Amino acid sequence: MAAEPEALSVGVLNGPNLDLLGRREPAIYGTTTLAEIDARLESLGRELSARVESVQSNGEGELIDAVHRLSERVDGFLVNAAGYTHTSVALLDALLAVDLPFVEVHLSNIHAREEFRQRSLLAPRAIGTIGGFGALGYELGLRALVFHLRRGD
Ligand code: DQA
Repeated sequence: MAAEPEALSVGVLNGPNLDLLGRREPAIYGTTTLAEIDARLESLGRELSARVESVQSNGEGELIDAVHRLSERVDGFLVNAAGYTHTSVALLDALLAVDLPFVEVHLSNIHAREEFRQRSLLAPRAIGTIGGFGALGYELGLRALVFHLRRGD
């Protein structure tokens, strides 16, 4: 019988306005709510032997505090920084300061949208970025992060 994989812990960060998923511009972001995304991640986490802890905040400082706090107990982050993706040096600095790997996720394909969304301050330091697959992107991102953490590259 195959050995049980080592248990991991993953922090999920959701930035501003993602609390409104479900009713926020559904043509762009879909109709799945953040609570549904969290539930899917928790269930996938069980399958992958990864504990998932999700945080959503509309505040940049709160997200930074969450990075600091969660870094004490997680092995990596799944990050949809929403609007802060394009603006927040401070959030990038927090992720670099705690020195944990992270996967960047977006519901929409930011490269197919307005020019100001096409640059991500986080992307150059992420393991990788998943975008354009709606809520499924979070599950793909969790799989990718866990794969990376277990394989160690
Ligand atoms: C987003 C894309 C961002 O440009 C936007 O500000 C968001 C959501 C996405 O998931 O597609 O809030 O991160």
